[in-house]
Amino acid sequence: MTVSDIAAHVGVKHWTPDTWRDSPIRQVPTYPDPAKLVAVEKKLAKYPPLVFAGEARRLKNALALAADGKAFVLQGGDCAESFGDFTANTIRDTFRVLLQMAVVLTFGAAVPVVKLGRMAGQFAKPRSSDSETIGGETLPSYRGDIINGPEFTAEARIPDPARMEFAYHQSAGTLNLLRAFAGGGYADLHEVHRWNLDFVGRSPLVERYRDLAARIDETLNFMAACGMTSVTTPQIRETDFYTSHEALLLPYEQALTRIDSTSGDWYACSAHFLWIGDRTRQPDGAHVEFLRGVKNPLGMKVGPTTEADDLLRILDTLNPHNEAGRITLISRMGADKVGAKLAPLLRAVQKSGQKVLWLCDPMHGNTISTAAKVKTRSFDAILQEVRGFFDAHAEAGTWAGGVHVEMTGQNVTECVGGAHKLTEADLSERYETFCDPRLNAEQSLELAFLVAEELKARRQPNGHFPAVAAQ
Ligand code: PEP
Ligand code: CO
Repeated sequence: MTVSDIAAHVGVKHWTPDTWRDSPIRQVPTYPDPAKLVAVEKKLAKYPPLVFAGEARRLKNALALAADGKAFVLQGGDCAESFGDFTANTIRDTFRVLLQMAVVLTFGAAVPVVKLGRMAGQFAKPRSSDSETIGGETLPSYRGDIINGPEFTAEARIPDPARMEFAYHQSAGTLNLLRAFAGGGYADLHEVHRWNLDFVGRSPLVERYRDLAARIDETLNFMAACGMTSVTTPQIRETDFYTSHEALLLPYEQALTRIDSTSGDWYACSAHFLWIGDRTRQPDGAHVEFLRGVKNPLGMKVGPTTEADDLLRILDTLNPHNEAGRITLISRMGADKVGAKLAPLLRAVQKSGQKVLWLCDPMHGNTISTAAKVKTRSFDAILQEVRGFFDAHAEAGTWAGGVHVEMTGQNVTECVGGAHKLTEADLSERYETFCDPRLNAEQSLELAFLVAEELKARRQPNGHFPAVAAQ
């Protein structure tokens, strides 16, 4: 009898880091040189892990608190990180805006905010079409820098396994800087709040935000008067920051999967948190198969075509022991669909007893094309989807656990609207994404202030949210 036979006999499906290779798979690149792919996989399998199992467990505990209504999650960063834009400034600016957003949200939600970057590994992209046609020429689609190049040439679009090695090194460099920023004084709450005051002063919505900013100021002053300063209290000086990406390119993920010597369990060591995208969440597919065997906290995108039965099946597969913090469902319905589509899924999951954390990704269901065929998203639609998400949770009596956004610390012009009223005509000014349109630094902060207002408005006089009180 083989190990698989024995496992099947006792009702447990055998898993190893490569069992996904026997399942149907979507969104895979076709590498023209399979021997080169195997050589890179072998090399990566010997490289040091990028994250440690203990860190992933710590994140899982924080997410378990969020699933229980005792924390809020902010997940954000690039749609796709780029080899061409690998600089300290880009990393610092995105990190900085995420921290600024987190301070504002902490105040609104009155609970800790778990910070999760779409950074240090967010390279592989699922595509709606395998090919792209420009001016009569058809080439394979760009699938992210870890696979091929964005330039519209036949050569750039050939999948090259050597890109995986570069992605590993870029992730290591990014993570190194993030760890230094998080623990080395850059994340000091007073500094972050001072940046927010600058933002409020510059914003056309200054009147609206002044009150919230002043209250945060007052709180920090009060804490200082009680002796809680950056010197006395490490929590003010340092922050926990975790990394995440879509686990799309399974040869790369497999190569970085290791056994944790403390627990004996398998962990994907490319990031703390991995998620399954909306296009690769088939219950019998390779991506679900791979992720069921690693112990990291996992996410899954839940789009408007998600069937409740499939969702429950996947939850049973990924989280058979119903561990809190293991599963985060990331709803990405679209502003016009969230009202109708989310409620039945919330009810189905609630009825099943599965402990999950729900986040709102208000980006991926709201991508539109302008008359000039430029991909954009409207700030209003993004905000509308967040509100719809909160409403659906309030109705179901469940906790709206956080937001997942595509953003950058740069002042790009990729999404229309916001306080500065970016128009379609403005998009060409600084349109830099190779993939989806991102919120720029000002729009990201504005979203955080507006979400904080929503959170505060929904809090009851006893400090609880109706949903948490009902749970
Ligand atoms: C993404 O998060 O970049 C993405 C492709 O999302 P989704 O799988 O929800 O379409
Ligand atoms: Co995207």
